[in-house]
Amino acid sequence: MIPADQMQNDQYAHLKKVIEEKKKIRNPLIEILRSAQEIFGYLPVEVQEFIAQELNIPVNQIYGVVTFYNFFTMTPRGKYNLNVCLGTACFVKGAPRLVQMLSEELGIQMGETTKDGIFTMSAVRCVGACSLAPVFVIGEETYGRIDSKDKIAEILKRYK
Ligand code: FES
Repeated sequence: MIPADQMQNDQYAHLKKVIEEKKKIRNPLIEILRSAQEIFGYLPVEVQEFIAQELNIPVNQIYGVVTFYNFFTMTPRGKYNLNVCLGTACFVKGAPRLVQMLSEELGIQMGETTKDGIFTMSAVRCVGACSLAPVFVIGEETYGRIDSKDKIAEILKRYK
């Protein structure tokens, strides 16, 4: 059950409006979940419960969809996605070491978000910059030939 004060929250009000609009289309669940993730930044259980209640469907059905598609997340995302390429070229050129250095620098593991909420580290396949391997991507920027923690620190501080 969703507490009344949460219902007054702008985000829930926005989501309720979205649900009302999208309810009319066929199979609206994925569209609604996409919007909910845009509104909240992620899909915590409370949001899933709210959607279940509004659509009058079991929350398990929603949970099943959220966990099936990897573009849905149940944990808060950072302001920036830091995507580390684990494609073949990057892997061969030291992506595992790059992941380790990033983990140490950020204090998180793959899939986690930094305490300050700035970065979420994820693994991706080839991003088309193999000649710069190993690479990671933040937003539109691709950073390549990363072979030291100093380089990483210098790049990350641009986002803080
Ligand atoms: S394998 Fe990493 S950019 Fe291609």
